[in-house]
Amino acid sequence: MKGVPLTVDLYKYIIDTFINEDDILKQVVKDTAEMKLPLIQVSPETGKLLGLFIKMINAKNVLEIGTLTGYSSIWMARALPDNGKITTLEFSEAHAKEALKNFEKAGLKNKINLILGKAMDTLDKLSEKDFDLVFIDADKENCVNYFNKVIPMVRKGGLIITDNTLRRGEVIAPNPGPGTQGIISYNKFVSTDCRVESILIPIDDGITLSFIK
Ligand SMILES: C[S@@+](CC[C@H](N)C(=O)[O-])C[C@H]1O[C@@H](n2cnc3c(N)ncnc32)[C@H](O)[C@@H]1O
Repeated sequence: MKGVPLTVDLYKYIIDTFINEDDILKQVVKDTAEMKLPLIQVSPETGKLLGLFIKMINAKNVLEIGTLTGYSSIWMARALPDNGKITTLEFSEAHAKEALKNFEKAGLKNKINLILGKAMDTLDKLSEKDFDLVFIDADKENCVNYFNKVIPMVRKGGLIITDNTLRRGEVIAPNPGPGTQGIISYNKFVSTDCRVESILIPIDDGITLSFIK
């Protein structure tokens, strides 16, 4: 195997050198924990990378499936140009309420449109159908369904990025749970789908990146 296994010290080096998680983002995580909501937001390094992808492809219009309390939405919204926007989908009222508060605190209310409801139903009704980048980070069992639903909405040269595609290593375990089975099917699907070119990047819990050809 080529590459350097990540140690705690190396990880700290990367974070200290490259990651600028400000007080607002830190507070989002702190409040999420204090409210006893799930602490399943992306890592700071994934947030930063999502922002960099947005800048690299000059994205203006982003779709996110799975808002939680808005941590990843804030990273992405900050990377967008002033006229850029994010549509983010969430079915938990408690998560959405907290996310809206956080968007306000971050001064990003005007850039982010949160739609409450089951993502699959919302996707059927979306009026906006012209995205540069889609970030999939909700129920893992539905990843392939989300991919098939959104791919006609993403421009050529755009990206579909899915989180947790290593599932803390469970993708190679003998008896994976249903969420992991969803991810295994997803990774297999996008690695062979001729509409995209894909790679799994082993950052945090893994993201799978698909470039629309
Ligand atoms: C991993 S969290 C999202 C984390 C967020 N992207 C971040 O990094 O800050 C997944 C979110 O998806 C939501 N979710 C799960 N299944 C959903 C569905 N079918 N429709 C809409 N939202 C869903 C959950 O309520 C949860 O808030």
